[in-house]
Amino acid sequence: KKKITLPQFKVRKEQGKKFRMVTAYDYPFAQLVDESEVEVILVGDSLGMVVLGYDSTVPVTLEEMIHHCRPVVKGAPHTLVVADMPFGTYNISKEDAIRNANRMLKESGIEAVKLEGGKKVAPIVEAIVDAGIPVMGHIGLTPQTAAQLGGFKVQGKTEEAAQQLLEDALALEKAGAFSLVIECVPADVARRITEALSIPTIGIGAGPYCDGQVLVIQDMLGMFDRFTPKFVKKYANIGPTIKEALNTYAQEVSDGTFPGPEYSFGMDSNELKRLY
Ligand code: KIV
Ligand code: NA
Repeated sequence: KKKITLPQFKVRKEQGKKFRMVTAYDYPFAQLVDESEVEVILVGDSLGMVVLGYDSTVPVTLEEMIHHCRPVVKGAPHTLVVADMPFGTYNISKEDAIRNANRMLKESGIEAVKLEGGKKVAPIVEAIVDAGIPVMGHIGLTPQTAAQLGGFKVQGKTEEAAQQLLEDALALEKAGAFSLVIECVPADVARRITEALSIPTIGIGAGPYCDGQVLVIQDMLGMFDRFTPKFVKKYANIGPTIKEALNTYAQEVSDGTFPGPEYSFGMDSNELKRLY
């Protein structure tokens, strides 16, 4: 597997080759993604909800993002790693946003940042891109500002709202974003945006016409069941598999069948070989 480069994004879109992106937040999952055909990892601030147990993405800090970006970069040398700038790290000033984006790149080794918002954040996106840091946009349902949107709802459902999303997308392209996530919008609206842009769109809950797709890895593997939106397809259901393994272990420890002789040392053992 060869790592995808940023200039390849536009080329691939022209070729009609789909982008495959998933989230990851730690070394073991990054390794698994790196060994798959998925070419982009997003260290999403969904971290807050699926890994850190918060109720939203808003509390996630820059330090927490950097802490999780490091092992992902280490575990996935053949995969492009993009990371979310958390809430509060790009809404003060261009200087502050650049400083925070700099930290994410310098302290973790990720290659690009993602930030939420359309026209209003376009000047910030442009400032970060001009500072030499690649930016992925994110429009539609933007979880960091979901309260302003009236909650977690499908966006762009009226002609006016759809037009606004298209203008947001064009503003981000003009600001220099290399790609754009579209979250929770009707498939036909995402198609219009995708056709109007020269940079690729990556959809989540945005139908099949986007240039690529992204899913939260815990969602698609069946490891997070606090809330499952309609757009999540469970490609595996490993949560119950893990619970079953834990209960078998618990039972075997209780009844003394684990560890048997094959997992124990005798007086003549000289090899302390790990079993994994
Ligand atoms: O944080 C995240 O996981 C995301 C994706 C859902 C696009 O932003
Ligand atoms: Na996010």
